[in-house]
Amino acid sequence: MNLLYRTLLNFMVFTLLYSTAYAFDSENGKILHNDNCVRCHEHSLYTRKESKIQSYPLLHERVVQCELMSELMWFEEETDQVTTYLNDSFYHFNQGK
Ligand code: HEC
Repeated sequence: MNLLYRTLLNFMVFTLLYSTAYAFDSENGKILHNDNCVRCHEHSLYTRKESKIQSYPLLHERVVQCELMSELMWFEEETDQVTTYLNDSFYHFNQGK
């Protein structure tokens, strides 16, 4: 197998695995969110004009705060998945933290 072909193949496999994992994160985040986070506020809170959430790190911070307040005892992974879901669906920040 020549090198170019192999490099290309590696790249394709990586892209496929990465995008699958990413879609899973967002999907799982949605389930976690809808099961636990709509008790106090609705989805419309995320799209209001006066939102103080202006970046991905601030969004992540807010998810952590709400999660602690709700005493859900989530793993970091779950907090990350919900942040990914909210960012994909509502905030659309550049994720470069
Ligand atoms: C105990 C009630 C409560 C629960 C449960 C709760 N939140 Fe919140 N959340 C709040 C309050 C209060 C605010 C602040 C509203 C404000 O600033 O006026 C808020 C604000 C937010 C914001 C910022 C919205 C914006 O753009 O201004 C995000 C994001 C958020 N919550 C995510 C979550 C997530 C994710 C969960 C589930 C882990 C969750 N919340 C569960 C009470 C709650």
